[in-house]
Amino acid sequence: MNYGYFDEKAREYVITNPNTPAPWANYLGSPEYGAIVTLNAGGYSFVKSGAAGRILRYTFNQFDEPGRYIYLRDEETGDFWSASWRPVMKPLDQYKTECRHGTSYTEIISEYSGIRSRVLYYVPLGATHEVWRVSLENLTDRERKISVFSYAEFTTESLYTQDMVNLQYTQFITKTTFHDSFILEQINEFNYPRPDGTTGRERFLGLAGAKVCSYTGSRDQFLGRCRFDKPKAVADGRCDNSLNYNGNPCGALQFSAALKPGEKTTAAFLLGQKTVFEAKEIVDRYADTEVTVNRELEELISYWHGELANLKIETPDKNFDAMINTWNAFQCFTTFVWSRAASLMYCGERNGYGYRDTVQDIQGIMHLDPELARKQLTFMLSAQVHHGAGLPLVKFTHNAGHEDTPEQDSYVKATGHPSYRADDALWLFPTVYKYIAETGNTAYLDEEIPFADKDTGTVREHLKRAINFSMTHLGPHGMPAGLHADWNDCLVLGDQGESTFVAFQLYYALRLMKEFCADEPDYLKYLDETAEKLLKILNEQCFEGDRFIRGFRDNGDIIGSKNNNEANIWLNPQSWAVISRAATPEQAETILNTVSEKLDTPYGLELMQPSYRYEYWDGARMRLFNPGTKENGGIFCQPQGWAILAEALCGHGNRAFRYYQESSPASFNDDADRRVIEPYVHGQFIEGHESPFAGRSHVHWLTGTASTVMVGCVEGILGLRPTAEGILISPAIPHEWDGFTMEKVFRGKKLHITVDNSAHKEGNPTKIILNGAERAAGLIPESELKEENTVTVIM
Ligand code: GLC
Repeated sequence: MNYGYFDEKAREYVITNPNTPAPWANYLGSPEYGAIVTLNAGGYSFVKSGAAGRILRYTFNQFDEPGRYIYLRDEETGDFWSASWRPVMKPLDQYKTECRHGTSYTEIISEYSGIRSRVLYYVPLGATHEVWRVSLENLTDRERKISVFSYAEFTTESLYTQDMVNLQYTQFITKTTFHDSFILEQINEFNYPRPDGTTGRERFLGLAGAKVCSYTGSRDQFLGRCRFDKPKAVADGRCDNSLNYNGNPCGALQFSAALKPGEKTTAAFLLGQKTVFEAKEIVDRYADTEVTVNRELEELISYWHGELANLKIETPDKNFDAMINTWNAFQCFTTFVWSRAASLMYCGERNGYGYRDTVQDIQGIMHLDPELARKQLTFMLSAQVHHGAGLPLVKFTHNAGHEDTPEQDSYVKATGHPSYRADDALWLFPTVYKYIAETGNTAYLDEEIPFADKDTGTVREHLKRAINFSMTHLGPHGMPAGLHADWNDCLVLGDQGESTFVAFQLYYALRLMKEFCADEPDYLKYLDETAEKLLKILNEQCFEGDRFIRGFRDNGDIIGSKNNNEANIWLNPQSWAVISRAATPEQAETILNTVSEKLDTPYGLELMQPSYRYEYWDGARMRLFNPGTKENGGIFCQPQGWAILAEALCGHGNRAFRYYQESSPASFNDDADRRVIEPYVHGQFIEGHESPFAGRSHVHWLTGTASTVMVGCVEGILGLRPTAEGILISPAIPHEWDGFTMEKVFRGKKLHITVDNSAHKEGNPTKIILNGAERAAGLIPESELKEENTVTVIM
């Protein structure tokens, strides 16, 4: 069953059946003001933080309520409906609707009883308020009188949990007031009033482009004894002009429109955390509603489409194109901006940035906006402790040079993180490499950046210390100790246990570091010797002929050995053996075959198999999850990206693309009830074959999957691999493709790339024709690129 389709011309996903298996959401706004909106207008808004700056209420894990509701009422018949299908839910044979989720805006277009409504939700670029534009059109041949009611349920406190649970306090601190065109919510009105009488914590819901004819600022008065599908005020045809004092505030405004046959009208509701003066100023700004909204929407679209413009592909697979050109890319920006701050799964309670998550997220936008990526990368380098480890959690208030660390109680108390992870700082190596390769800015390596607690050093020095941290935390076999976790949060190996995944990451880091330290012969020698030693250990202690093991427990037992009953084959050590180039070509072939035989399912590769049930040991915390779920044998989606990349690096285009397709959201478009979450964004995991719900996906939007799968597709399948000298183009594609095209901007130069696969190969191109001149396949040095280039890659 499908509920919608990709409209790639508009870069929108269009939901045509509103009865989706889960609330399919979109993100609006910026780190300063964020809003999540679902196809049925559910969702919430927040200033800066989903947990500490919550403006609109939303009940998690429930019925996608409340939301930014617009109710419409026929004044003659008294019949009423909502501009989104929910909450009123008119029968779908009479109510036509589509929801268009776009890049940072959502429009819901509905038609019922001869009235077409178009409600557009967005946060203007650079603004900290939101707009709900309502357009109505009379499609009938008689005059119609329609009442429009808005409903926004304000929180009583910016702290989300206080609003939800501390009712003996938060129910008694707000009141609303009415000011001609808006309702204002006051919180702790007399606490710290500023000279102008405001507190800076006020919120408003206003109306521009029409006249308010009734209002209420009290949820109880708006709803009466009813729920959102039958609010009393809408049923009565009027709000009772009441305001709350204590209890639950809301913003409900009514306006009335008389529409001649064919006539249209437009107004806008405006919402934000603003003082009475600011609210008035904002409402006034939208007096010429259509003009202002159209201008702002155009600005927003051109900004976002501009952000996505550096790469555009056209392949035989339209779903793949939609994901790479628009949706995976937009999701990468969304995770980049919000990390794991707020979604319909995360309440926003994480009080900082996870180190590895954030450094990984940066990779996802590298090919689109490397300078934006650099800013965040610099920030994350400044969250490295002087001994080289990454802070497990980087506070939103991070103040480089002055931070406490897991060695201190104050840090542990503030963040809940008592110790370091083995992998955190190692993610910096590929991320720094990708930045330098995308931009050619090798000078970045000499940039001075402070450490989190003390000292400062160049980027190169930061990376050296990261290596040093790993090298001073080795276990009994001489491999990196697993510490509090490696990438896998559920694998706690401690000081004596060891992780092959981290060993491969370290091996890769040592190799990449050679490129960063080319004129330091002694250090180069150290890097070579260390890498060689590590490789020897990996081969002698960790290779079992058809697989690499996952590591060692602190008692020396092997994790992920073929001799174990449970969890005897793990995905990440195999893909990372290839990505790090530690595996020989023969080893790579064998271990990737093992992965394909033992871990592949119709919905992607399972993280390990069989799931833990009985062979529990301290540190294998994934057993808390049902088998086939999350880290316990589920199809964890982030590692799909690494598997795609590993296969592509070996020239296995068929398998790389198959793995991509198996778990790609878009592949589920026509089987959406199985996947449940949005077919246009990646989730954190998909349930594996041991679950009765194999194929069902969870934890939408904010996940490292976005960046890793993006990298797997761009560097792997599409084969766009920038290096310090230029760009290597080596696609690995399904052999049946005849070819495809890519428009890529590389260091400001345009590349019009055609891949010719008349040979029907799956990888390893034979030659390249650059601006008419034939050359060997492989790297194109930047020095040979003009402003505009035609590149033909012959497979
Ligand atoms: C979650 C965490 C991430 C971790 C992954 C695997 O996605 O956010 O940091 O690597 O789980 O455990």
